[in-house]
Amino acid sequence: MAKFPTSRVDKLLSAMGYGSRSEMSRLATAGRITLDAAALRDVTKRIPVTPDLPTRMTIDGEALDPLAGLVILLNKPLGMTCSHQEVGPLIYDLLPPRWKRRDPAISSIGRLDKQTSGLLLLTDDGDLLHRVISPRRHVKKTYRAKLARPLNGTEGDLFASGRLMLEGEAKPLAPAELDVVSETEALLTVTEGRYHQVRRMFAATGNHVAALHRERLGGLSLPQSMAPGQWKLLGKEEIALIFHQGERPLA
Ligand code: URA
Repeated sequence: MAKFPTSRVDKLLSAMGYGSRSEMSRLATAGRITLDAAALRDVTKRIPVTPDLPTRMTIDGEALDPLAGLVILLNKPLGMTCSHQEVGPLIYDLLPPRWKRRDPAISSIGRLDKQTSGLLLLTDDGDLLHRVISPRRHVKKTYRAKLARPLNGTEGDLFASGRLMLEGEAKPLAPAELDVVSETEALLTVTEGRYHQVRRMFAATGNHVAALHRERLGGLSLPQSMAPGQWKLLGKEEIALIFHQGERPLA
């Protein structure tokens, strides 16, 4: 039988954001925590942290939140910041409030600008986060850009050249792929995540990005059915899709 790590119940629930250890003790004494349908009154007890624990444990009748290792796909709305601290609306406000207290913390995998919408991943898995954002992985990101002025026809070759140098940078951009949708709209696929990269790429051609939306990341697409602000937890197969497309063998 597989061996699972064990944890004290109060420590586990506290790390999941449910409250302090003493609050967990109070809930348990009041019979508000159950394990396998029986009241669990002693939260100092160590239990195996099995993957099915969220279906076997309840707090106030609600199934336990997902254990550590979660990956969330969010349709980021315009006007929200990818930050834990800044003032104003933050993407973390879209998740259940207690998730702000989880340890390890949930963070976005890379960032989208406040005025960029679309596919954003969040996770509490630091290794996964670093693998996705690592420039060595070449994970593709596809953006739909609406432009203030018509394309001039030179952008595709310039972006694909691997020679475009953005202002203030020491290294040219890796080749990127442009698919023209109309005179003022294009899909741009990049493998890096430099600061304001897409906006700066079009600015380098004398244009201006009026609206920016991320549609794909690796082999994951933003489902059409997901409205701005909606999110869902990804399963193992969907997580594997992140690296399905665009990943190259490590150098
Ligand atoms: N490039 C940008 O300019 N902004 C984003 O939010 C993402 C990529």
